[in-house]
Amino acid sequence: MSIRDRLRPKTSASVPPAAAAAGTAAEPAPAPAPAVEVPRVAGIHVPDDVLTAIGAAIAAVPIDYGGGSSITKALVVADLVLEHELSTYVEIGVYKGRSLMPVGAMFAALGRGTAVGIDPYSLVEAMQDDLDHFPEETAQQVNEFVRSQDWDAMHDGVVALIDELGCGDHCEIVRATSASAVERFDDASIDVLHIDGNHDTESVRADVEAYRPKLSPGAFVVLDDASWPSVRPVHADLSASGERVFELLDLPKMNDFAVFRMP
Ligand SMILES: C[S@@+](CC[C@H](N)C(=O)[O-])C[C@H]1O[C@@H](n2cnc3c(N)ncnc32)[C@H](O)[C@@H]1O
Repeated sequence: MSIRDRLRPKTSASVPPAAAAAGTAAEPAPAPAPAVEVPRVAGIHVPDDVLTAIGAAIAAVPIDYGGGSSITKALVVADLVLEHELSTYVEIGVYKGRSLMPVGAMFAALGRGTAVGIDPYSLVEAMQDDLDHFPEETAQQVNEFVRSQDWDAMHDGVVALIDELGCGDHCEIVRATSASAVERFDDASIDVLHIDGNHDTESVRADVEAYRPKLSPGAFVVLDDASWPSVRPVHADLSASGERVFELLDLPKMNDFAVFRMP
């Protein structure tokens, strides 16, 4: 599947419960999605109860046109958290919560840790400028999609979903841009930083630089869509300053991310 295919809108059948939850009161409440069976991946040791929590969270936010985080990515983050006993996860760019919710649910299952998702849920912030490397039709589709979203409803749906999944003590949304949220975090306090906000080169680069002092020693940075032309320069920056410990650049399987361990 090409990037173009990936960006093609799905049918209404794939509208996630988070969005559905934001519908009118007259609509019947959607049935909770059955948990996804998360496959075991060789070398990744995740206890059964944590795996079940991750499966339920992933099932609640199906992949759609604007968010496509894979089960593999959720398992890689889970493995890092468990292996290194990490407790502070910060995600820039939440959208409907496909990558945030599994981490919040995992922390809830473990009874420790905090997952903070930062997203302004704002049309202006979500617009992409660096789309020259995509076919023109695709570039148009991206921003048409961004314009078509009800960002307020999306925010409310994600907040409701955190409650529905029972992870409110371990997961929160900061409705702000990454730049304005950064001062909420103490220096050297973030164990895992997941960068998946605005994908323009300068935005991704600014996220890395603004949050660099906030990373704890030996923290991990997950860079999403690492093969996007606009993200590749930042992949090169991180490769120079950190150790690339994991990478999957396999867009057809919805895996396109790299993990760096910072000094
Ligand atoms: C690709 S989506 C994130 C997908 C999500 N991580 C997932 O797994 O489904 C990008 C998100 O970044 C958000 N965003 C745009 N500009 C931002 C900024 N300056 N700070 C934080 N988030 C931003 C957008 O609102 C959008 O929800």
